Amino acid sequence: MYRTHTCGELRIHNTGETVTLSGWVQKVRNLGAMSFIDIRDRYGITQLVVDENSATDVQQRASSLGREFVIQATGKVIERSSKNKNISTGDIEIAVNDLTILNASEVPPFTIEDNSDGGEELRMKYRYLDLRRNPLKKALELRHRMAQVVRNYLDKNGFMEIETPYLIGSTPEGARDFIVPSRMNPGEFYALPQSPQTFKQLLMVAGYDRYFQIVRCFRDEDLRADRQPEFTQIDCEMSFVDREDILGMFEGMAKELFKTVLGVDFAEQFPRMSYDEAMEKYGSDKPDIRFGMTITDITEEVKGRGFVVFDSVDYIGGICAEGCAGFTRKQIDALTEFVKRPQVGAKGLVYIRCEEGGKYKSSVDKFYSEDDLKVIADKANAKEGDLILILAGDKKKTLSALNDLRLEMGDQLGLRDSSKYSPLWVVDFPLLEWDEETKRFYAMHHPFTAPKPEDIELFEENPGSVRANAYDFVVNGTEIGGGSLRIFDSELQNKMFSILGFTKEEAERQFGFLMNAFKYGAPPHGGIAFGFDRFCSLFGGSESIRDYIAFPKNNSGRDVMSDSPSHVSQDQLDELNLKINITEK
Ligand code: AMO
Repeated sequence: MYRTHTCGELRIHNTGETVTLSGWVQKVRNLGAMSFIDIRDRYGITQLVVDENSATDVQQRASSLGREFVIQATGKVIERSSKNKNISTGDIEIAVNDLTILNASEVPPFTIEDNSDGGEELRMKYRYLDLRRNPLKKALELRHRMAQVVRNYLDKNGFMEIETPYLIGSTPEGARDFIVPSRMNPGEFYALPQSPQTFKQLLMVAGYDRYFQIVRCFRDEDLRADRQPEFTQIDCEMSFVDREDILGMFEGMAKELFKTVLGVDFAEQFPRMSYDEAMEKYGSDKPDIRFGMTITDITEEVKGRGFVVFDSVDYIGGICAEGCAGFTRKQIDALTEFVKRPQVGAKGLVYIRCEEGGKYKSSVDKFYSEDDLKVIADKANAKEGDLILILAGDKKKTLSALNDLRLEMGDQLGLRDSSKYSPLWVVDFPLLEWDEETKRFYAMHHPFTAPKPEDIELFEENPGSVRANAYDFVVNGTEIGGGSLRIFDSELQNKMFSILGFTKEEAERQFGFLMNAFKYGAPPHGGIAFGFDRFCSLFGGSESIRDYIAFPKNNSGRDVMSDSPSHVSQDQLDELNLKINITEK
């Protein structure tokens, strides 16, 4: 028996018991004849004492210990004279009478402490050591807890967990596929699923009317803090449901997670916002509604006064920062630099200070009288002491820049409190997105998303205005989940393919299996998928989903620990009939 207890378990009431613990050496303090050893495992830390009462060989072994050695210690639980209130076992210690070194350890490349001295790249390389640290352990515990709550909730509601394949044909969702060559079928490739979308729909045709899966998805796309090339979805699909059934079911799941994991109770229904409203008021389809400062369209109010910057564009919008009229020149210059960054893309920033006594001061006083400025301020609901920040340009780009500016101001003013949660459903997305470059429509969600029935008649004359029966679950400005009702009628699906520019043959080749299935009695169905890693990082209060993934990739998609991706041998390539067509750098 390696242990009788864990290193986080013993309390004052265990005093007098003889126990055996196993774990890693967190810290050794040798004070002459006495050694204090902190032994750590997943559950906590316990202090071991070796002193002159311990056998000589025990004393010798204690003095040879180094950090991260794996040891086993047996001894009596005694009350500590100086108690440590910071750890759960801090009232006791173990007077060791037997000590075994189960395994020695090299000196770790960074300290295994809550605040480690190791940089991120180094910690990623030794991820198994990083995972010994409390913050990562807590993150994985949170992930586990959340997965259990999800499974219980869905099981309770009659959902079946069904696995779907990882080696599949290409699925048509936004990103690039990772592809896998098939040895047995020379020249042919599998794709790793971007999501189990088509399979969950086939399960609906097969009659499994409530499906879910906590499943890995693979997307070859540019990476960010909230994007990994392989990530996990809570993927769900239901049959014989309308939008309300789906939103109700998964709002219930989100509420259960908030309540059981965070102790946050949402009595009210989550707010709903149309895509159009989100874009007009927040400049984003994932609005952070923890704070106001919404966007006001002031195009009408400011155009035609001879100010060429405003006169030459199609949209002018502003946000009102409460109580910020006192922002210094330097602060405003910094904001101007912020909006001019290529990622934000604005050309410049105009401001209006709403000063005491109803006076206005702006960077464009030359073109606008105080009365003009008052009209703008009134439209933006600005009061004395507020600062209005204005951007102008192409409508889509300017709204997006206003979103960035609004979030920046929210950060500066401390309005984006990570312990506050503001969930909402964004609904009624456009079905299609026009791409100027390729001059064709793309499915905004995926090609199986159903249009809103009342918009179907617009398909012929104005496909761009057709709204989808799609919804996103957004919390604090992050898209946590998204889904839709699906097309279940072959004719409508074919129409969708043709609008998306697929020839009959292409559609047949890529989705023939799904279209075939739809000939055999497809029920009305719809579903949703939550980004599980994002859900976890939201709950854990971190920006990066990496912390919630045991073995993540870095921003170049590399696993620096196992050093992948990597080259393969010529034999492997030959077996797959593959030739590498790049010259060595
Ligand atoms: P969608 O593409 O919106 O929908 O994905 C669902 C959710 O998955 C998360 N997500 C990601 N998380 C981490 N890294 C990534 N690279 C990444 N990409 C997406 C997001 C997102 O909201 N099949 C549909 C769902 C459906 O219609 O039922 C789908 O995959 O949180």
